[in-house]
Amino acid sequence: MSSPERQKALKGMKDVLPPDIYLWQKVERTASELFSAYGFREMRTPVAEATAVFSRGIGEGTDIVEKEMYTFEDKGGRSITLRPEGTASAVRCFVENQLHTLPSPQKYYYLGPMFRYERPQSGRYRQFYQIGAEVFGSAAPAVDAEVMSMLRHFLMRLGLGSLNFQVNSIGCEECRPGYKQALLAYFAPVTGDLCPDCQRRYLHNPLRILDCKVRRCIELRKDAPRVTEHLCTGCEAHFRKLLDLLKLLNVPYTVNHEMVRGLDYYTRTTFEVTSEDLGAQNAVTAGGRYDNLVRNCGGPDTPAFGFATGIERIVDLLKQTLLPPEPAPAIFIAALGEQAHDAAMVIADGLREEHIWVELGEPAASLKSQMRKADRLSSEYVFILGDDELNSGLISWKRLSDGTAGKVSRADVGSFLSGRR
Ligand code: HAM
Repeated sequence: MSSPERQKALKGMKDVLPPDIYLWQKVERTASELFSAYGFREMRTPVAEATAVFSRGIGEGTDIVEKEMYTFEDKGGRSITLRPEGTASAVRCFVENQLHTLPSPQKYYYLGPMFRYERPQSGRYRQFYQIGAEVFGSAAPAVDAEVMSMLRHFLMRLGLGSLNFQVNSIGCEECRPGYKQALLAYFAPVTGDLCPDCQRRYLHNPLRILDCKVRRCIELRKDAPRVTEHLCTGCEAHFRKLLDLLKLLNVPYTVNHEMVRGLDYYTRTTFEVTSEDLGAQNAVTAGGRYDNLVRNCGGPDTPAFGFATGIERIVDLLKQTLLPPEPAPAIFIAALGEQAHDAAMVIADGLREEHIWVELGEPAASLKSQMRKADRLSSEYVFILGDDELNSGLISWKRLSDGTAGKVSRADVGSFLSGRR
């Protein structure tokens, strides 16, 4: 008989196991605790949506929609897509659930897997996790600043406070067409020298030539007109106020005129947080304002602002300075004989109800092998339970780190730890 074939996780998708998972949990806990203090509540949306949610939301001509979506037909013949990002889903949810009828602004955060059919490399996966936050219902630059400051506090709490914020404004429906014309005029004499991708971008979305990584394109755009020189009065005032507020809130930033982002929905503010310690995929967080998206998705006129951060990239950074702590049991109960093991199960049950981590030895194992196991698990205490202990009602304990030992009555086991830690 041939041996069964061993299956592997799909390319670009990975298992997350201890000890890394402790860092993931820390990142997720930090986000939910801190974001709550800013009034954000959690939103959970399905991982799959009708394809139109993303093709309309993110934009037909974007790399994500053109090349990277996991799209398939379900058994009912509908076109379904695994979400490549969270904003379009959040907007669909906002509109469908009429969240605009609640007091403005509405603030939500989300956390979960996203799917993009990209070429996998270090820091770039086909299934990756984002933590995102979105504010609906305010056009004020104060919201942009407040959310970016919240993000900075989040990164600081994780020990990543030195990361740099790059900020830009890409204008609005009123001023962006003029800027596009200026770019087209600038690149017109050199279109043949641009890389093939940028030659396409020239025709469909010339702003994206500004963040092309090809050296020749970088040289050619050296003297390209800057978007901030073409902003209308409203966008200019929004950007100035945002920069003032970022200073006031001590968010360190640099203005990057070339940061235009690869999703179509942005208006005015765009920003990214990058790290030099991540290699080619150096964006840790990205976001911006999207004042027209809710309306374009069938909702009422609702300005919005948000960001998303990649959990894998944050964890990669944390691992460079912090080894994930391996948690250990508080108590290991070594029981000798069936009767003692039964009693140990009852004691463990009571302690676990108090959220104390208790491990039990194997029922038939020798004391020596149970002690070895307690040691391997780095348990803080070992309780020893044999006939003597059962008869006297006193349990022997030993603290493994310093060898101290003693006895505790069965009735006091619950309060044993509180006085000793
Ligand atoms: P994004 O720039 O496409 O923006 O992704 C945000 C973050 O997700 C990136 O900075 C990166 O950390 C992580 N990320 C993206 N793709 C991958 C990948 N293939 N593997 C690992 N990590 C990845 C958005 O998704 C927008 N929805 C952000 C936003 C929210 N804008 C407004 N609100």
